[in-house]
Amino acid sequence: MPITTMPTIPALANALPRVEDEIRQLATSSRLPIVNSFAGRLTAAGGKRLRSVVLLAGSLALAGEVPDRAVTAAACVELLHAGSLVHDDLMDGAVERRGVRTVNAEWGPGPAVLVGDFMLARASQAALASISPFAAEQLAAAVTDLVEGQVLEVLDLYDVHRSPDGALRSIALKTGALFRVGCVLAAHCASAPEEVTTRLSEYGAHFGLLFQILDDLLDLTSSAERLGKPVGNDIRQGVYTFPLLRSLTEGQRELLAERGRDLGETELAGLLAGLRAGGLVPETVAYCRNLADQTAQALPEVPGSEALDVLRRLPVAYLDWAVSQIA
Ligand code: IPE
Ligand code: IPE
Ligand code: MG
Ligand code: MG
Repeated sequence: MPITTMPTIPALANALPRVEDEIRQLATSSRLPIVNSFAGRLTAAGGKRLRSVVLLAGSLALAGEVPDRAVTAAACVELLHAGSLVHDDLMDGAVERRGVRTVNAEWGPGPAVLVGDFMLARASQAALASISPFAAEQLAAAVTDLVEGQVLEVLDLYDVHRSPDGALRSIALKTGALFRVGCVLAAHCASAPEEVTTRLSEYGAHFGLLFQILDDLLDLTSSAERLGKPVGNDIRQGVYTFPLLRSLTEGQRELLAERGRDLGETELAGLLAGLRAGGLVPETVAYCRNLADQTAQALPEVPGSEALDVLRRLPVAYLDWAVSQIA
C-alpha cells in the first residue's frame, strides 16, 4: 500500500480510524438490515482510503489540525466512492471487489442499483447534516460528473478509434472529479481562501487522472490476487483505456476491431502478453512520472507543513507502488 510507505504523521494516523468509524456508521445507517449488510460488507472489506488520506492531509496542511468536519468529509467521500463501485461492478459484470464478492454477483443487478443509490444519496445527505450545504452540493456535483464520465465511456465501448484524449476526458470526470472534490472539501473544512482552494483542487484533479491511468495500466498488467479485483476486464468489457490506446500496434488494433466483442480468453491472454512485451509499461510510466510532477507542482505553498510534504510525495509514491504491482 502506498500509504504505509509515507512517513507517519500522528495527526493523520489518529484521524484515519475515526474516518473508519464514520464510514461504518454511514454504511450501516439504513432502516433495512439487508442494505446495511451489503453496504457495510464492502466498506469493511477495506480499500486503500487514498481519497481520505489526500483529504485529511490537505485539511491538516491548511488548518494545522484535522478538523472534525474533515473526518466526516473523508467518510462521505469514501461512501460515495464505494457506492460508485457498486454500480461500476454491475456495469462491468465484476464478481470480486476488495477481495469479496460484489453486490451484483451475490444479490443481483436490481439490488446492486439500489444499494449503490443508497450509498451515493447517503453521502450527500450526511454532508448536509454534518458539514454544510456547500459540501453536500459539491458531493452531489461530483456524482453528476462521475455519471457523465461513465456515460462517455459507455458511448465509446469497443471503439478501437477512440482517441487517447477522449479517454482522458472520460476519466477526468469519472475519477478526477472525486479526488478533486475531496480536495475542495479539505480546503472548505480548513476555511481556506479561494486561491488556495483552487490550487488544491487542481492537485486533486491531476491526482485523479494519474490514479485512473495507473489503475488502467494495472488492469492490463497486474493480477487479481494482487488487486482484489479482476484484471483484463477493461478489454473484455470493451473499455479501451488511455494507456492501451496509446500503445496499441496496428496489428493489435485490427485484432480488437475484428474480434473485440467476441475476444476469447486465449486471444485476450495473447494480446495482454504482446502489450506487456511492447511499449505499454515504459510509455505509460513515463507519462505518469510527468503527470505526478505536475500534480505536486499544483499544490499551494504552506511553508514548513509536514502534511503538505506528504501530499507532495504522494503522487510519486503511488506511482512507485503501482509499478510494484505489475505482475
Ligand atoms: C477503484 O478505486 C476505482 C477507480 C477509480 C479506479 P480504488 O483503487 O481507490 O479502490 P479502493 O478504494 O482502494 O478499493
Ligand atoms: C472507475 O473505473 C470506476 C468509477 C469511477 C466508478 P474502473 O472501472 O477502472 O474501476 P475498477 O477498475 O473496476 O476498480
Ligand atoms: Mg470497473
Ligand atoms: Mg479499472
